[in-house]
Amino acid sequence: MNEPESLQQAKRGPDGNLFLIGFMGAGKSTVAQALSALYGMEIIEMDGEIERRAGRSISDIFATLGEEAFRQMETELLTTLEPGKRLVVSCGGGVAMREVNVQAMRRCGSIVWLTAQPETILARVAGSGSRPLLEGHKDIGYIQSMMAQRQPKYEAAADIAVATDGKDAAQICNDILAAMKERRQGCGQEG
Ligand code: S3P
Repeated sequence: MNEPESLQQAKRGPDGNLFLIGFMGAGKSTVAQALSALYGMEIIEMDGEIERRAGRSISDIFATLGEEAFRQMETELLTTLEPGKRLVVSCGGGVAMREVNVQAMRRCGSIVWLTAQPETILARVAGSGSRPLLEGHKDIGYIQSMMAQRQPKYEAAADIAVATDGKDAAQICNDILAAMKERRQGCGQEG
């Protein structure tokens, strides 16, 4: 007997590209790896790809070329991606701040906003030295205010939002798939 389409879809995972957006430490890289392992999606880790292309680290790019040059590299990378590839793209935390980036993501996939409380973020980024925007500012007040500034842009860009606090990567993947299914049904599409 043939499996219902909805069951096949659940096993196969997302059909198109997925863009994971959200604040630094929201879990984008970890969740991208889990989605790739579960559903055979190809990963693009934006920070890693930009480092590879530039031949230097993100911290080095910020220090020597400046933030604006880094933002331009993000836009260049995003605007060369194509629809329908089954990519999972782990975006840098600032990607959704530029409208041109949001339009590029919309054109070729679904946008998933991973959220986390400032306390969760602080715990996750505490030991990291690779985030120039948080160097010297690893405290709740700073994270809260930067998050509050960015929140409206994340919210406006997102097709779905999934909270990550207290969940492991497998649970977050389940929640993403469930939220996407709910959205499809809400849009009158199948499965
Ligand atoms: C940034 C987030 C970082 C990285 C860069 C700027 C931001 O990526 O792109 O340091 O503006 O939020 P992660 O979100 O993967 O840490």
